[in-house]
Amino acid sequence: MITLTTIADLRRQVRGWRADGKRIALVPTMGNLHAGHLTLVRRARELADRVVVSIFVNPLQFGAGEDFEGYPRTMEQDAAALVAAGADLLFSPSVTEVYSKPQEQQTRVEVPGISDILCGASRPGHFVGVATVVCKLFNMVQPDLALFGDKDYQQLLVIRSMVQDLCIPVEIVGVLTVRDENGLALSSRNGYLTAAERKQAPELRRIMLKTAVAIESGSRDYTGLEEKAKLELEKAGFNPDYYTIRSAVDLSEPTDKMSDLVVLVAAYLGKARLIDNLQAHSPPG
Ligand code: PAJ
Repeated sequence: MITLTTIADLRRQVRGWRADGKRIALVPTMGNLHAGHLTLVRRARELADRVVVSIFVNPLQFGAGEDFEGYPRTMEQDAAALVAAGADLLFSPSVTEVYSKPQEQQTRVEVPGISDILCGASRPGHFVGVATVVCKLFNMVQPDLALFGDKDYQQLLVIRSMVQDLCIPVEIVGVLTVRDENGLALSSRNGYLTAAERKQAPELRRIMLKTAVAIESGSRDYTGLEEKAKLELEKAGFNPDYYTIRSAVDLSEPTDKMSDLVVLVAAYLGKARLIDNLQAHSPPG
C-alpha cells in the first residue's frame, strides 16, 4: 500500500492509474478504523481496480466544544488494517494541506434543507463541513465511485444531493451498517463508552426494532411511537437528542401514504453521542 500526504503526489499517482484505464474507488474516513470502515474498503475492492482510502479528521465538521482535539487518532493500526483489507493507497493529508486558507476564507459547500434538520440542527455547520471536505476529496482523487455507510444515513443523503446538484461525476455507493454481536452499530465514538455503558448501548437498537415492528404491523401513530421510544430510551439510561420517524427518501415528515420510512436516533450515553437508523416499510392501508 502506498501512503501519501500531499495532493500533488496523490494526483500524480491517480493520474497514472487512470491512464492505464483503472477504475478508482474512494473511501473517505476520519480514521480509528473498525470493521464498519473495513467493510467499505472490501466492497470498494470488489467494485474497482484501485482503492484509495482517506484518513482526515476534518476540523470543519466539528463544532465548538465538540471532540475534534480528542477524536481518536490511531494511524499505525489503521494503516496495518488497510493493508489487510486490500487498500492500494492511503491518503492522510495534514489540516494545512486540505485547508490552505483560514477557515473563514474557505469556500464551502452547502446542501440546504436536509443539512439543517436532525443532526444538522443539533450540530450547526456540521454538514457544511462534511459536504465541503467530501467535495474537496472528490476533486483531489477524482474517483469513479465513492463508498459511504448507511449508518450515517443523513450524511449519505447530503452527499447524494451534493453530487446531483453540482453534477459531480462520482457514483455514490451506500453500504449496510456493520454491528457488533449485540446489535450496536460500530462507531469510533463507541470507544468513549465505559464498560457499564457498553452493556446498556445495544438497548438503542432493541428500541428501534420495536418501533420498526410497529410500523410494519400497520401503526401510523408516528408521534405516539416516537414518544414511547424516547421514554424507553430515558429509562435505559440514554439522553435522547432526537428519535424520529421520517421518509427514507428525503427525511421529510411522514404522511399516512408513505411506505418507505426510516427510524433515526441520536442519543447520548454518558459522553458518547450515538447515532443509528433502521428502515421500515409501512404496509398499504
Ligand atoms: P467516519 O465516521 O470515519 O466514517 C467513514 C465512513 O464509514 C462513513 O461513510 C460512515 O458512514 C462509515 N461507517 C462508520 N461506521 C460504520 C458502520 N458501523 N458500518 C458501516 N459503515 C460505517 O463519516 C465520516 O467519517 C466523515 O464525516 C467523512 C465522510 C469521512 C467526512 O469527513
